[in-house]
Order: sequence, then structure tokens, then C-alpha cells
Amino acid sequence: MSVKFSVNGMPAEFDGPDDVPLLWVVREHLNLTGSKFGCGIGVCGACTMHIDGVAMRTCVMPVMMADGRQVTTIEGLSHNGNHPVQKAWTELDVPQCGYCQSGMIMAAASLLSRHPDPSDADIDREMTNLCRCATYVRIRAAIHRAAKMR
Ligand code: FES
Ligand code: FES
Repeated sequence: MSVKFSVNGMPAEFDGPDDVPLLWVVREHLNLTGSKFGCGIGVCGACTMHIDGVAMRTCVMPVMMADGRQVTTIEGLSHNGNHPVQKAWTELDVPQCGYCQSGMIMAAASLLSRHPDPSDADIDREMTNLCRCATYVRIRAAIHRAAKMR
């Protein structure tokens, strides 16, 4: 089955099994490797992309579900890394090893689109991505910083 969608504003097409996870298509066929493979079972959030503006875990999303939709990866979140979340992440030096961070940034950007000024409780409830380096305190601070920048 041929699946057509857009990735970061550019047309994309995948001709193959329609149950291949979107993450595989984006990483292996489109060579956009910013989104990471972590758990593969929809738990950690390392693979988070925006689908029509909403954060989704793409390791468990069959590519056919992207048909006709707009996919945004970390590479397309902003032109120059100047999305408020990215700027706040840099200012507060959030990452440690960095592996989870593209997913964290995509989840945070999606959160702020729905909650422009989130409380700590909003952040704790909505940010369910996992970080093995436990950067959660800096992530929370950076989300508040990004909210102020917006
Ligand atoms: S790799 Fe997708 S949720 Fe962990
Ligand atoms: S910064 Fe290392 S897993 Fe999050």
C-alpha cells in the first residue's frame, strides 16, 4: 500500500507494508533520525512526533495512520532551533545524555499549544515521557521558561 503524507511541510510517500511503524519510515526511509527508538512499546516517548499538531508515539503508530496527515519531527519544529521550547532547553542546559530529549521537546511543544501557561500539576500530568538521566526538574523549569517566552 502506498501511503502519502507530509513531513515537515514536504511531501512524503511510503510504498510497503502498511503496518510498519511511522518511526521506522521516518528514520530509515526519510533519514530523519532526530526521533529516537527507545522502548518500542509506546511507553518512553523517545519517538514522539506531532501528527496534525498533536504529540504521538510513533513507534506504535502504523504508517497507514499517517495517510493524508501532517507529520512534524524535531527537525521541523522550527527553522533555526528557535522554537520557545528549544530556546528554553538551551538556556537551562536541560539535556544530560540527550537520548530522550527530542521526544521531550516535541511533547513539551504540544503541551504548550494546549496549555499556554501550565501549572506544575499540568506538566506532571501531561509530560509522561521517560528520562533515564532524570532531567525532570530542568524539564519542568524549561517548560515554565518557554511559556514565558511565548
Ligand atoms: S520508543 Fe516509542 S514510546 Fe518508547
Ligand atoms: S537526558 Fe539521558 S535519557 Fe534523558
